[in-house]
Amino acid sequence: MEEKAIQLKGRDLLSLHGYEPEEVAAIIELAGELKEKQRRQYPHPYLKGKTLGMIFQKSSTRTRVSFEVGMYQLGGYPMFLSASDLQLGRGESIADTARVLSRYLDGIMIRTFAQADVEELARYASIPVINGLTDLLHPCQILADLLTIKERKGTLAGLKLAYVGDGNNNICHSLLFGCVKVGMDISVASPDGYKPSSDIVRLARQDAMRTGNKVEVLSDPIEAVSEADVLVTDVWASMGQEKERAERLRVFPPYQVNKKLATHASPDFIFLHCLPAHRGEEVTSEIIDGPHAAVWDEAENRLHAQKAVLALLL
Ligand code: CP
Ligand code: NVA
Repeated sequence: MEEKAIQLKGRDLLSLHGYEPEEVAAIIELAGELKEKQRRQYPHPYLKGKTLGMIFQKSSTRTRVSFEVGMYQLGGYPMFLSASDLQLGRGESIADTARVLSRYLDGIMIRTFAQADVEELARYASIPVINGLTDLLHPCQILADLLTIKERKGTLAGLKLAYVGDGNNNICHSLLFGCVKVGMDISVASPDGYKPSSDIVRLARQDAMRTGNKVEVLSDPIEAVSEADVLVTDVWASMGQEKERAERLRVFPPYQVNKKLATHASPDFIFLHCLPAHRGEEVTSEIIDGPHAAVWDEAENRLHAQKAVLALLL
């Protein structure tokens, strides 16, 4: 069969939904190759002379460090831009910021609250814009998750992933988009009031119809986890939801990923968490520090997955 050339140069990465299955596969494939090059200390300066601006309106450990190190390893220059230090923080418009930054940089990564702001930045920028997390989506995290699953399981298509906890957040939403792109089934279990956005579920199901995959939104965590190859959870209160924390701590305990719940998963399940984690809340230490957890590989894979994204888009 003739291989279709994947051309992503100049594209934005705002959501995985806008990417074709073969494009997602190409990113994961290149991420694996770059990881191997890095391991062998084989130089790979694909972005020599290129600059990436990184706008942060929320805290970050992994995203900031992995993008910064990744850009450096690719021979490029990463520039950290705290949103509050930019004129953006004093009211300069997103559109004007996009126009100006496009005259200096080769790409922009942004972490902020509203997905609409990232979309606006991309609309007015003439360079690729990468979503480094919004309240709605976190596509870079899910690329790293898929790379981790592929490494551990040898394949992606045909596996079942179960996400338990806050369904109405960036991780769950991006998993819904990501799993169906690579032929995985996904079951989400969340309490009422915290189910994933119905728009996102509808779009994921449209993709799933093409691949024959299942997208389930349930209330019962045991049913969701049943026979799952991959268990995923995330914090019960995301960045920006600090005021809801007490209420969320009351609602979510039945959705904790613990040893008892994990007995319903496939015996060789792997556990993923984007981190930061709250041990004793969404996951027990037994699970996150136990033999099924792949969270440190997952965190490392942020670096390799994003290097692939940067190399392909920039
Ligand atoms: N997983 C993740 O995005 O981590 P940071 O918030 O530390 O970037
Ligand atoms: N859902 C979490 C993910 C952190 C990487 C948050 O938005 O805070």
